[in-house]
Amino acid sequence: MPIHRRKPWQMPESAVTPEEAVLAHSAAKRGGLSRRALFGGGAAVAALAGAGGYAALAQGRDPIGWWDAQVGNDPSKGLYPAARTERFTLDRPITEAREAITYNNFYEFGSHKGIWQAAQRLETRPWTLTVDGLVAKTKTADIDTLLKTFPLEERVYRFRCVEAWAMAVPWTGFPLAALIAWAEPQAGAKYVQFETFQNPAIAPGFRQTWYPWPYRDAFTLDECTNELAFIATGVYGKPLPPQMGAPIRPITPWKYGFKQPKSITRISFLAERPVGYWEKLQPSEYGFWANVNPEVSHPRWSQATERMLGTGERRPTLIWNGYGEQVAGLYTGLTRERLFA
Ligand code: MTE
Repeated sequence: MPIHRRKPWQMPESAVTPEEAVLAHSAAKRGGLSRRALFGGGAAVAALAGAGGYAALAQGRDPIGWWDAQVGNDPSKGLYPAARTERFTLDRPITEAREAITYNNFYEFGSHKGIWQAAQRLETRPWTLTVDGLVAKTKTADIDTLLKTFPLEERVYRFRCVEAWAMAVPWTGFPLAALIAWAEPQAGAKYVQFETFQNPAIAPGFRQTWYPWPYRDAFTLDECTNELAFIATGVYGKPLPPQMGAPIRPITPWKYGFKQPKSITRISFLAERPVGYWEKLQPSEYGFWANVNPEVSHPRWSQATERMLGTGERRPTLIWNGYGEQVAGLYTGLTRERLFA
């Protein structure tokens, strides 16, 4: 994703692009350095992560061991692992957990991939989720009440970032449709917007005032009630780690990852289509629909192939990220829309 130092239109092409992180990583691999060596420990990472609390404590720790220790204190730990729903199958191996939890986009904690330690400053309890806008009644629910309201299941999904890296992940959570029904949308609600927490005291990204905080993005109501649309509260059989969007985030696997805000605190039901975080920053590069398509390049790179996290394997990108059977029908009659940006 581009980094905008002033205004989007003032950004030189030479500004940091995701490809640089990708190239740095491949170069490191070629030179025999693992991602862990690059991002997961040592003084450089300590400097990146910043000081304070859990972030400081996490520095230099093994990311899996650290996660397990945090899960030990999580009030929802007894709900995991949940039974896998077998009708969602993969055409590729599941990505190593270590790779998925140490290579992340979470701009609130920094505009680079190595934010996992910094993200440990996110306190996920107490945590509430508010539903508002065109709903029967504005409601605020505690995360642990929500977790008891909706039975958890595990689903293995492909995940594709617009930057052309990809993974395959066992999410734990529940259908987004169930949360939508609980919210009781009213007539006139056409769009559903998801909003990330905003707390500058714990996340340095908020000091970068040229970003349009808080991180938000939206789907149509029909997209939200599609059978694939999911609310993730866990991954790899455990509660989500902060860097992957704890304690709750939406997952729409046929869309690029930027459409899926992490660590959400608000869901708003709207009559008009809102403009998301990346679309606000750079409308010529990021749009509302953002469905995965190998034939529609990003203005600055091809989307024809994707690079699997961990193995580095190059695979052909699949249209709708391979979920056309479930979702293509959502888009009939929208021929004038930019469905793939
Ligand atoms: N949500 C918030 N709040 N902040 C972000 O920077 N990045 C998005 C998305 N959700 C982002 C976010 C992007 S660009 C991607 S690709 C995915 O999160 C990455 O999810 P992961 O780090 O769990 O793999």
